[in-house]
Amino acid sequence: MKAIILAGGSGSRLYPLTQVSSKQLQAVFDKPMIYYPLTVLIASGVREFCLISTPDDVPRYKKLLGNGQQWGISVEYREQAKPEGIAQAFLIAADFIGLDSVTLMLGDNIFSGGDDFPRAVSNFDGGATIFAYHVKDPQRYGVVEFDRNGKAVSIEEKPRQPKSSYAVPGVYIYDNDVVEIARAVKPSARGELEITDVNLEYLRRGKLQVRRLSRGFAWLDAGTSTALHEASAYIEAIERRQGVKIGCPEEAALVRGFLSVDQFEALIEKMPSCEYSDYLRSVADEWRRLKWEKQ
Ligand code: DAU
Repeated sequence: MKAIILAGGSGSRLYPLTQVSSKQLQAVFDKPMIYYPLTVLIASGVREFCLISTPDDVPRYKKLLGNGQQWGISVEYREQAKPEGIAQAFLIAADFIGLDSVTLMLGDNIFSGGDDFPRAVSNFDGGATIFAYHVKDPQRYGVVEFDRNGKAVSIEEKPRQPKSSYAVPGVYIYDNDVVEIARAVKPSARGELEITDVNLEYLRRGKLQVRRLSRGFAWLDAGTSTALHEASAYIEAIERRQGVKIGCPEEAALVRGFLSVDQFEALIEKMPSCEYSDYLRSVADEWRRLKWEKQ
């Protein structure tokens, strides 16, 4: 399984923050926003990534993430000249996808809790898997309608009169047909290649699975300044209460076995003294202690 993280767009709703830096590089409490989707994907066992952003912002992501080797992953980069739709990601990254299946994740989607994604990635056996999450304002999203047996029967993009309260979050798992399907999608009324049209084609083919995310799962929006602040406050509250961090790629790479504890500690040595490196040091100490306790 490969993964694309889409982190382009103009970020106009976060003006003036986005005057000099991409939306997905803004801080969500103590980390850049992009760390959150990246961590979810590493925790799901994905090692090969392609990050798509604007020509102006790609160099900034390269500075932050490099080639991924430090975390035991690989990161390639592609530019999207204009925000012409989420589904365009499959055309831009077709050579990266090759013959593999691929997960697409939007760089501004923040998730916390549960093991729904790792399970969905490891159980994936073709077609498309998307998710559904109960929200108060479904008209802002792609909306799934279910029949009485819980089977998805329709998906509408930002409907005025939503047929359910289940929105589709920005994480989608596809088999290799997605490239051919995206190639056939026509721009919508707003001039974009819509991800909803890709999902509708899988639905038409009878190959779409929609998994409802559990109640305890948090899907946060960081699209406006207020939502960004609320997302930061949420992450801060959970991290303070639990003493564990959300969205920490180094930790996910250690847990997943992409990094040995020695490599993990070598990474910490290169970091300045700060809360983040203090936390990673405590993770390494606990890791060594637990290993010792198990022996
Ligand atoms: O967040 C989930 C929702 O994302 C889904 O429920 C909708 O079905 C889906 O269409 C999308 O809706 P949005 O209106 O929120 O998408 P938006 O245009 O805001 O783009 C989402 C992110 O993807 C945003 O951070 C910018 C990035 N993006 C978007 C487009 C259209 C790109 O990098 N390139 C693009 O061409």
